[in-house]
This record gives sequence, structure tokens and C-alpha cells, in this order.
Amino acid sequence: MNRPDSAAGETAVSPGKISDFRGNGLDASLARRKELEQRHADTKVFGGGKTFFHPENSLLSASLIRNALRMTGMLERGRRNAMDIGIRENPVTLARLPNSFDGFTVLHISDLHLDSRPDFALRLAEVVAPLEYDLCVLTGDYRFHTHGDPRPALRGLSILRQVLSGTTYAVLGNHDSSDMIPDMIAMGYHLLYNTAVPVERPGATVYIVGVDDPHFFQTDDLEMALNSVPEGQLRVLLAHSPEIYQLAEAADVDLLLCGHTHGGQIALPGGRALYANARCPGRIISGNWQYGSLRGYTSVGAGSSVLDVRFNCRPEVTLHRLCSPC
Ligand SMILES: [Fe+2]
Repeated sequence: MNRPDSAAGETAVSPGKISDFRGNGLDASLARRKELEQRHADTKVFGGGKTFFHPENSLLSASLIRNALRMTGMLERGRRNAMDIGIRENPVTLARLPNSFDGFTVLHISDLHLDSRPDFALRLAEVVAPLEYDLCVLTGDYRFHTHGDPRPALRGLSILRQVLSGTTYAVLGNHDSSDMIPDMIAMGYHLLYNTAVPVERPGATVYIVGVDDPHFFQTDDLEMALNSVPEGQLRVLLAHSPEIYQLAEAADVDLLLCGHTHGGQIALPGGRALYANARCPGRIISGNWQYGSLRGYTSVGAGSSVLDVRFNCRPEVTLHRLCSPC
């Protein structure tokens, strides 16, 4: 399988090139995110962001859920479920996909929350290591908490990077700190912070576009991200949350890959989410969906937030196989 290590274009943030990142016109939106982080906005439980209630910012939420599960004898089962990461295959037909990209496979990992427990990163690496794909994308939430020391999550990212083949593009989620960016770049992750990169195959180019968190920090700038993308070219957008779906459709995006919702993480039998923490229609909080001309896929995530438990919502990594129309 072709692993396009050379896929990163000039606008990508390449390993060891943090100076390029700071100097390429992205300072304003990064400064805004840093300002919010420094004001500890990420500890705010009510208000801010696209939803009013932010359970992930509260340590009390975890304590209440943990105690309820312990009292009902379900805590350990939920923790086992959270380690049972599945591999989901998703063929997706895109009208504008050039023939030379037919079969191009994208490994999509979202909501990793790598420091949710000490052995989680190793478990995820074990699941990912044997997979075959052309490109890997990460759609944010590397850290378990929304604030605090990012180093345990960075250690997890380092473990994961060792088993990822070829180019990996990443965007930040609402649990991440912009302070993680230099370390991620040094590890070989290509950060897409409101920017786009071309991916080339003989005679054809498609674009991978990445924006910052549209959910809590709302420092996404799709217009800036698309600046370098020519009209009419296929564009795959990486965003942490599906809440950008209307803007993406208006911007002629072909495919939106995202996460954030965890598919509810704790769901009723049959998979109905109790709470998805996103302002968007229920039909787009997990799996495949379509909005107008936009195709979308919302990953239920590989990891867990607030508490490392899952019920009726199996964690996943996803292999998207892009198909040209017949
Ligand atoms: Fe998450």
C-alpha cells in the first residue's frame, strides 16, 4: 500500500518547523486560543462554547457518575468496555474523488484521551499497529481532562506515533492545550491549525483541511483554512466537532471527519445517546451522515471522557475507504 509520506504540502506544519507555524499568518487565532486557556476558560462548567453545560470541565461530574456506577456494581464492566476498541470500516463514495484516489484509505482516530488510565495508550497502539492505510488523521482530544498537566497525554501520543505509518495530520480538540503543539510537531504529527495541505497522486490532487476546535474555544477559521484550496478540488475537512457542519457544507467541503460527541459514551441499549454535548441534529452525532452535498462521519471516539467507562457505545478507530462513483 502506498504510504504518501510526501503528502505534506508547503502549508503543513512539519516536524521541527514550529517557527514556520508561528510565522504563517495563523498567529491571531492561536493567540485567541492561548488567551482563553490562560484565563482558565477551560474550567468553566456553564456558559461559553456552543453548549451551555460542559460536564467535561467538571471533576464533580466524574465523581458523581463513578459513585453511581460503583453502587450499582457496573463500574468495572464500564471500564472493561472502554478498553474494547473496535475497528470500523467505512466505505464512502465521493462524487468529486479523482479515479487515482479510488480506494485511498484514511485511518481516523478521534477523542483519544490518552491519559484516561495508565495502560490506555498501549492498548490503542496495539489495536492500530497492524492496520493498513494511506493516511492517518486525528481529530482531537488527546488529553483526558480539559486542563492540567498535558505531559501524560503527550507520552501517550509518543507511544501512538511509534506505530503509525506515514503522514499523520492532526487538529486540536477542546480537551487539548495549545502548549502541546511544539511537542506534537517534534514527534512527527502534522498540525493543521486553520490550514490545508495538498495530497497528490499521479495527475490528481485532493486537499486535507484542518480547523481548530469549533465546540468550546470556537477558534476555528474555515475561511482562512481554505485560502490555498483551488475551487472545484475535493476537500476533506478535519474538525473536532460536527458542529461545523453548516459552514462546511456552505464552503463546498466534500467530506467532514470529526468526533467530540463520543456517540454519548454512555448510551441506552440499542445505542441511543443520553447526552452528546454538541449543538447539532441527533442524526449527526455518530457514524455516517449527509447534510445537503456534505458527507460526514462522526467518530464515537477511541477513548473516554469525564470517566473511563462506556456502555452500549463501543470505542472505535475508523478506516474510511474513499471510492469514486462508478
Ligand atoms: Fe472527547
